[in-house]
Amino acid sequence: MVTNKRLRQWVQEMADLCQPESVHWCDGSQAEYDQFCQTCVTTGTFVRLNPELKPNSYLCRSDPADVARVENRTFICSRNKDDAGPTNNWQDPDEMKDTLRKFYRGCMKGRTMYVIPYSMGPLGSDIARIGVEITDSLYVVTNMRIMTRMGQKVLDVLGDGPFIPCLHSVGRPLTGDVKDVPWPCDAENKFIVHFPEEKMVWSYGSGYGGNALLGKKCFSLRIASVMAREQGWLAEHMLILGITNPKGEKKYIAAAFPSACGKTNLAMLIPTLPGWRVETVGDDIAWMKFGADGRLYAINPEYGFFGVAPGTSMESNRNAMLTMTKNSIFTNVALTPDGDVWWEQMTPDKPPRLSSWLGHPWTPESDELSSHPNARFTAPAGQCPVIDPAWEDPQGVPISAILFGGRRPSTVPLVHQAFNWQHGTFLGSVVSSEKTAAAEGSVGSVRRDPFAMLPFCGYHMGDYFAHWLKIGKKADAEKLPKIFYVNWFRKTPEGRWLWPGYGENCRVLKWIFERCDGVENAVPTSIGYVPAAGAIDTSGLKITNDDMRELLRVEPHDWMVEVAGIRDHFMQFGDRLPPALWEELEALDRRLRKALY
Ligand code: GTP
Ligand code: SPV
Ligand code: MN
Repeated sequence: MVTNKRLRQWVQEMADLCQPESVHWCDGSQAEYDQFCQTCVTTGTFVRLNPELKPNSYLCRSDPADVARVENRTFICSRNKDDAGPTNNWQDPDEMKDTLRKFYRGCMKGRTMYVIPYSMGPLGSDIARIGVEITDSLYVVTNMRIMTRMGQKVLDVLGDGPFIPCLHSVGRPLTGDVKDVPWPCDAENKFIVHFPEEKMVWSYGSGYGGNALLGKKCFSLRIASVMAREQGWLAEHMLILGITNPKGEKKYIAAAFPSACGKTNLAMLIPTLPGWRVETVGDDIAWMKFGADGRLYAINPEYGFFGVAPGTSMESNRNAMLTMTKNSIFTNVALTPDGDVWWEQMTPDKPPRLSSWLGHPWTPESDELSSHPNARFTAPAGQCPVIDPAWEDPQGVPISAILFGGRRPSTVPLVHQAFNWQHGTFLGSVVSSEKTAAAEGSVGSVRRDPFAMLPFCGYHMGDYFAHWLKIGKKADAEKLPKIFYVNWFRKTPEGRWLWPGYGENCRVLKWIFERCDGVENAVPTSIGYVPAAGAIDTSGLKITNDDMRELLRVEPHDWMVEVAGIRDHFMQFGDRLPPALWEELEALDRRLRKALY
């Protein structure tokens, strides 16, 4: 019996609108999960993997028209258009509701409506928040059980308290002689819609990832960023890791990189430097609040990883591979003849025969990829071999450093440090990266993705910058995390990576660790502090001095071009761009001119 009156009412209203055959309240038990997976196997949505190779795990193939987040179909429906800002799609909330009600009316006919109560953050923690997702997709239910803490235990904690209502439908009613398909969706009519004032999410038409697992991007970033601004905290697209030096001293680091730019890899990094250790708190989202001691503390609101599969291997990310050995769901990867999964770069040798993500027979000679570039694994965070002992600590972990980064083949050095919080906010506001397959659209072109939040900020990006500045102003500067900008992706003009990346990134983390301890191993440049010659520990690494110099080179001519690009980027925010960021840009411009002439 559900006691929360508002919840009961809302579910009834949505059932009246969507007209499902039945309503199922998810209890979150293992038995329920197993039964749902079995149903998915029967309907052809899941393929059960070989239990001896991948116990309790499944492959799912989506509709090829539903494979990634759809940014141009994502809306922030604030009452005033200005409050969504120039980087978000906007529509009037009432008009959007009218439009969507037409799609939702009867959209669950012939299907079950599942009600998923879930907690983002450890159950009962002060920082945690509760959402309830209504969906007609068992793919969503099963993935949400891995990605969030969900079920009856959440209702017990909720009591009569508040929750974020999240409505989702794949938009394919089973009426007349319409037959179900393994991956139902309405590819022509996708809507991922947020009502920031009401704190509500409506999603329609897509069943994939961030479009449909509404606790993740929709709630924990877009809606939570609005809540965070109102309440004085931060909801960020950041991994959280703990790093321990050979003396046993430990620090926590948060890092914001755009989608498919290396958060999961860095969060689970295996250091190549002897005596160093990295442990994982989270790989995608951080909620950060000030503790009683004045330091910034972070929690990972999620319970699982929804990670990019292609490129993941025992060499590139051993810990991720070990996390997904059981109890996992694989979406849009290839199937081996013995009932295991494979994707590009998983093994040095390609298997002779596969069934591709499209279900086609595949051989190494095939023209098409075996897996979609945005193929993903869903795996329980608790299964990560290096999960941090404090990953479920309701207080969170104290953050010493915040990193920004992206894919930049030129201009941006391997690492530089902001002069202070305001300059660090500037660095976050100008993050840029080559686009990846995580979102539908062209891959490879460089775009500004401020704070790696371009697709995830639930309000005006200029106001978001102001919020970051305000957070810094009210804090004790000594206790604030130091801010850095990293770039693992610098290339030679011929297109060769200059930096080996992955486990070797610990060499950069070591420098950052030392900077947090105030070690004087940096030189000031126009753009910030850069490692002094020899300050990056390259012991045991085969890298030429020329490459190392190139990696750390700050070329004022290139940066003048950058300044012009940043000016254009800032212009779009009009008078909502905080003056402090204009000042930072002008100061950068002045420093560069001085360096040039
Ligand atoms: P989302 O889950 O989409 O938010 O992305 P993420 O930031 O967690 O991305 P992930 O760690 O899965 O990065 C995936 C891509 O980045 C893969 O293609 C990796 O091979 C590549 N990558 C990660 N780290 C490195 C690195 O240090 N160097 C290079 N060259 N590539 C890297
Ligand atoms: C991202 O695109 O940043 C992701 C994957 O983390 S999704 O949940 O699909 O948004
Ligand atoms: Mn992400």
